[in-house]
Amino acid sequence: MERKCKVLVVGAGPGGYVAAIRAGQLGLKTIIVEGDRAGGTCLIRGCIPSKAVIHAASRFEELGAHAGAGEMGISLPDGPLLNMGALVAWKESIVDKLNSGVETLLKKAGVELLQGWATFRDGKTCDVRTADGSVSVTAEHVILATGSRATELPFMPFGGNIISSTEALELKELPRKLVIIGAGYIGLELGIAYRKLGCEVEFIEALDRILPLYDAELLRPISMWLRKHKVPVHLGAKATAAKTRGKTTTVEFTDADGKPQKAKGDRVLVTVGRRPCTEDWGLENMAVDLDGPFVRVDSRCRTSMRNVWAIGDLVGEPMLAHKASAQGEMVAEIIAGHRREFDPVAIPAVCFTEPEIVGVGLTPAEAEEAGIATTIGKFPFGASGRALAMQAGVDSGFVRITARRDDNVIVGIHAVGAHVAELSGEFAHALEMGARLEDIAGTIHVHPTLTEAFAEAALAGLGHAIHVAK
Ligand code: NAI
Repeated sequence: MERKCKVLVVGAGPGGYVAAIRAGQLGLKTIIVEGDRAGGTCLIRGCIPSKAVIHAASRFEELGAHAGAGEMGISLPDGPLLNMGALVAWKESIVDKLNSGVETLLKKAGVELLQGWATFRDGKTCDVRTADGSVSVTAEHVILATGSRATELPFMPFGGNIISSTEALELKELPRKLVIIGAGYIGLELGIAYRKLGCEVEFIEALDRILPLYDAELLRPISMWLRKHKVPVHLGAKATAAKTRGKTTTVEFTDADGKPQKAKGDRVLVTVGRRPCTEDWGLENMAVDLDGPFVRVDSRCRTSMRNVWAIGDLVGEPMLAHKASAQGEMVAEIIAGHRREFDPVAIPAVCFTEPEIVGVGLTPAEAEEAGIATTIGKFPFGASGRALAMQAGVDSGFVRITARRDDNVIVGIHAVGAHVAELSGEFAHALEMGARLEDIAGTIHVHPTLTEAFAEAALAGLGHAIHVAK
């Protein structure tokens, strides 16, 4: 069968499906090809299912705090019981709901979802292996949105006890002990969740710190949590081998002093980064240049081949769903004739650890490196009534604003603390609008909410915070 369309999107993750919906809204005849379920890594086996597991784990830990004598005057004499199978089924129900939601949105936008694996013959034509046979699709414009996959360590490929984040989100039984290689975004988010569920966790991290994108001050509350919950973190440690005997896998690693060490677990989660999916779909048959492992694009997401566009994890860091979606929307609009460019002031990032971290723009050290003289305004959640009233002020969290010293224009906002992920929108908005400390301090923030900490941090930057003494 042969099909023709104006826009062909390959990959229905948060980059591709958003591009397709926007193209459909703009009246462009659009086909989107997906080899798995619509929603991509983010919705099917990444952001959403991990947030469901993280939420369930936090609930379990909170309920556990009420065991015995309890707290807040609430006690659960026998404590909570965990049924991992039911937890995973609940998580799946959320994934199913969102997956069918995406399919419906595509249909309502007039987009055809072609389920199957696409292989390009040339820049504008691909063959799609569907359940009903091969379909050849020719398009005027192609949007590549094939995403990324977990990186494997060559000496311990995925399989058996060695798992990636995908399997970690499907475990129907709680491991007794989880050894995690790589204390980055995924390792820490999942490791903390599994610890909350009662599993022992041990980290092996090659660098001399966890989450290298954030500075020591921001990471302190997380390190404190890991210490308090007896999670060993071996820094400067490189995994070298893994041997499985029976149900137990022993990971061999060298510690910071170069000495050989061992860590044993019944599961080993490898979270050492992700790499773009550039293989197995005929990229070599297209005249598209690479930039290292990524597809090279310009600020409009144009590849080196005319009318072939690429977005999301495929085109580089940061590998974040919201960046992919923003690029997808933009490309659809450019194809429809709009003048657009991908030029955000900053792309916010959140790590859903305990507590959560938000980062948007420059840290004080990065600003200094860029030659910017700064003013720093900081406000601790321990001084926020709302935070204390919801047990969010006990983990040493804070909001920190970095502004230019000469005109108070904000160049970076960082926060660590329970629930701070939900402040990320206001932070990103402030940066994108070019706000100064005075703009934030002069905006009336609702009392009592956690957002007051943002206004107070701006006041602190101006030298006159109200609820914290100098
Ligand atoms: P990552 O790049 O965040 O962390 C990988 C860690 O593994 C690094 O700290 C690295 O030093 C360490 N490592 C590498 N090789 C090692 C070895 N042989 N032995 C020990 N340690 C080793 O990668 P991660 O966590 O896999 O996440 C991948 C991407 O997914 C991230 O870049 C992020 O963009 C995205 N992501 C975003 C999330 C969010 O926004 N909340 C959540 C999860 C993932």
